[in-house]
This record gives sequence, structure tokens and C-alpha cells, in this order.
Amino acid sequence: MNILLTGGAGFIGRWVAKQLLEDGHQVWILDDLSNGREENIEELRNHQGLKSFIEGTILNEALLEELFDAHRFDICYHLGASINVQDSIDDPGTTFNNDTIGTFNILEQCRKHRTKVVFMSTCMVYDRCTDASGITEAHPIKPASPYAGAKIAAENMVLSYYHAYGLPAVVIRPFNTYGPFQKTGGEGGVVAIFIKNKLAGRPLAIYGEGTQTRDLLYVSDCARFVVQSGYTDRVDGEIVNAGLGRDITINDLAKTIVGDESRIVHVEHIHPQSEIQKLLCNSDKANRLLDWTPTVSLEEGIQLTEEWIRTTNLI
Ligand SMILES: NC(=O)c1ccc[n+]([C@@H]2O[C@H](COP(=O)([O-])OP(=O)(O)OC[C@H]3O[C@@H](n4cnc5c(N)ncnc54)[C@H](O)[C@@H]3O)[C@@H](O)[C@H]2O)c1
Repeated sequence: MNILLTGGAGFIGRWVAKQLLEDGHQVWILDDLSNGREENIEELRNHQGLKSFIEGTILNEALLEELFDAHRFDICYHLGASINVQDSIDDPGTTFNNDTIGTFNILEQCRKHRTKVVFMSTCMVYDRCTDASGITEAHPIKPASPYAGAKIAAENMVLSYYHAYGLPAVVIRPFNTYGPFQKTGGEGGVVAIFIKNKLAGRPLAIYGEGTQTRDLLYVSDCARFVVQSGYTDRVDGEIVNAGLGRDITINDLAKTIVGDESRIVHVEHIHPQSEIQKLLCNSDKANRLLDWTPTVSLEEGIQLTEEWIRTTNLI
């Protein structure tokens, strides 16, 4: 198939690109490099399936029109977005433009060309988990940050195109994802930041009490879920979660990564009002409709990530 992948030079995007290429598709990557980097797709560059890397933004409607007209995409995996909760609080306009308006621009092209769209939303749209069986897709949502609000708005537009135009479209909500190629600075994910600080001999700083939990999904499991969502019409018009099905407090995560508790410090939370106290995924629907289950345990995933951070100069 001919596939457009937005955000393909980002952390999860490069793993999705890799999987799509391994599956034999022709892939065009569109990324404005606002948070991605070309080094992420370096090893894919010579793959004959990678047709082009286009440095450009989903806010450029003329560029989108040109790409869709020229290549007749079968699927658009739409991952390009602003992803940082704190940035969305500081500057909601950028997140709203990229995550909501940008998605609308993608949808309009998909509608014109009958291109299936896989919209990458996030677990950050959910309200806190309240029971042991985890968060299903029917769990209440809560726009606790402009990031979540912008994703919910975009999700609704995506589903409206399914209902109003019969566009093949799916909303996917992966839980917090980690692994090689995630940034290790302040804008990165908690696992990458903790490992980097451990290796650099710095303290691991936890926002607030550290009792908040996350369901951490290893990136290759996440990419497999994303890719599968495009391949079947069984999920069209649906919202589908994916997570490990196990949550861990940030305190326990820090202990697992660094061992030595004297290296852990607690600092004032930067956005307590937008924190989600408990995130635990129920992936039964992904299992039923996509035959998807995670295969990498948290301990294994942390080890793979640490090896990568230890051996690469990318960060
Ligand atoms: N990392 C996670 O834990 C997680 C969990 C669930 C969902 N997601 C979603 O997955 C997607 C990828 O996230 P990620 O963690 O890989 O982050 P990332 O920042 O590495 O990837 C996003 C990519 O989109 C690009 N981008 C941003 N604005 C763009 C624009 N206007 N036009 C074109 N490209 C643009 C960035 O340069 C970046 O390469 C995002 O949609 C995010 O909301 C992430």
C-alpha cells in the first residue's frame, strides 16, 4: 500500500515507519522536525520502500493537497502532534493548531481521497482510573490539559468523518510509551529521563508525591498496535486502547531504575492541576479486534532502553 505517515521522524513514528517498511509498504514521511529528528530515520533511509522524507507541516494545506493528489494514499497514520502537557499549558495555541487544526487538515484530504485515517490519540484524555480492571474505552474522559483537550477535539472530528462520510477512520489511545529514540531531556518521557539521570550520576526528580501511576508500554508493542489498526476494517469507527495492563507508581519506577533510593528526590509538581493520579489500561478491545497483546515486560523494556541510552550519542 501507499502510506502517509505524519510525525514519522519522531520517537514512536520512526518505529511505526520501520514496521510498515518491514511489512512491505511504500511509505512517505511528513514531519516538520519541531520535535523529531532526521537521525531517527537514518537506518531506514536506504530502504527501497521509503519513498520520501518531506520536511513540512500538516498546517500547510497546499502541501497536503499536493501529496495526496500525487500519491493516492491507502492509509494515513497521523502521529504528527505537539505532545508535551506543560508546553500545552504554557502555549495552548501551538498545541491546538498542530493537534486539532492539523488533524482537520489531514481529515479533509482523507475525505477527498477516501484514505483510511488512523488517528493517534493518547491515554492522557482519560479521567483517573477508579477500578482494578483498568480503563476501557467507555471510561470517562477529562480534558485536564490543553493537550488532552486538543486531542479530544481532534478525536471527535475523526469520528464525525466516519459517521457523516463513511470515511474509514479509527481513534487509537496508546498509554504512556517508552523505549529507544525517546528524548531524554525535560521534554522526553519519564523512563528515558530517569535512565539518563541515573547514568549521568544525577538525582532522579519526582514531581509531587510520586504516588501517581502510569501504565508503561514498550515502543515496539505500541508500533505494532498502531500499524495493525490500519490493516483491518474491524476497528473503523472505533476507539481502541493499548497498554501493558500493569501500572506502577512513579516512586516504584524510580526505585526500579536506580536501585539506590538516596538518589531519588521529590520536587514540587509543575502542573498538579493537570496530573492524572492513576492510569491503568484495559486492552481487551485491542486483543479482541486486533489480536494484539503486549509482549515486552516493563523490566525487559527498561533494560533495552538503558542499553540504547548507554550506547548512543543521539541524545
Ligand atoms: N509518547 C507517548 O507516551 C505517547 C502516548 C500516546 C500517544 N502519543 C502520541 O503519539 C504521537 C507521537 O508521539 P511521540 O511520543 O513519538 O512524540 P514526538 O514528538 O517524538 O513525535 C511527534 C512528531 O510530530 C512532529 N510534528 C509536530 N507538529 C507537526 C506538524 N505541525 N507537522 C508535521 N509534523 C509535526 C514532530 O516533529 C515529531 O517528530 C503523538 O500524536 C502523541 O500525541 C504519544
